[in-house]
Amino acid sequence: MEVVICSDVAQAASRAADTVEALFSRSPDAVLGIATGSSPVGIYEELGRRVSAGRLSLAKARAFMLDEYVGLPSEHPERYQNVILRDFVAKVDIDADNVHGPDGLAEDLDAACAAYERAIVEAGGVDLQILGVGTDGHIAFNEPGSSLASRTRIKCLTRQTRQDNARFFGGDVDQVPLHCLTQGIATIMAARHLVLIASGEAKAEAIRQVVEGSVSAMWPGTILQMHPHVTVFVDKAAASQLTLADYFNDVYNHKHLIQGR
Ligand code: GLP
Repeated sequence: MEVVICSDVAQAASRAADTVEALFSRSPDAVLGIATGSSPVGIYEELGRRVSAGRLSLAKARAFMLDEYVGLPSEHPERYQNVILRDFVAKVDIDADNVHGPDGLAEDLDAACAAYERAIVEAGGVDLQILGVGTDGHIAFNEPGSSLASRTRIKCLTRQTRQDNARFFGGDVDQVPLHCLTQGIATIMAARHLVLIASGEAKAEAIRQVVEGSVSAMWPGTILQMHPHVTVFVDKAAASQLTLADYFNDVYNHKHLIQGR
């Protein structure tokens, strides 16, 4: 796991955007895994600037979302399909038809989950998955206690996550749906490169657990320690509880010495 401690959230977003740009320079039709929440918004804005500058194109990209609330009406502004249209699709040149998410309005939710798993496989799998992390260490909507071998399925959200996300629902926790569809932990782990971004003091404990804690379903993000290619971009506040912070800085600052060897 590479941990990159950035001076601020803008630098973290810019460096994370570099990984996406590098991928699409190599493979214009690559498959991007996209996350909702506030953490990745800076990445999407930076990608938008690079697309506008003619430096990057996502015109041939395909994208898969991590998760979706169950039951939010199709026009609801907080339905993740709509959030992604606003936060990501509107900012870059991706074809909206190539952006997929689990169907939280399906009559048969189990079948929708299975179909979503198939769609990811048929696209050739996710090349680069952008991730945020919840304050309780969840990735996508895999709450503490989730099976580390899970696939896309229905989950019940914790009170903590619903409280965290109430800010998007007028501060009213009761407006936050109880259920969601989420890629499972094994689904996420099948992506070829995982790029996690986190900022702020509120994420410091989750980042400490994800990077340095014991692998446990109690902190689902700790499973990233089992993946061969993970990059974590954090600001100083989110990195503030890392025991190995100096080492991570040394590794990053001296990376150029061994690159290309
Ligand atoms: C939600 C999303 C996650 C996201 C998390 C953190 O629960 N399902 O994918 O990582 O919130 O959100 P934020 O980035 O807003 O802190």
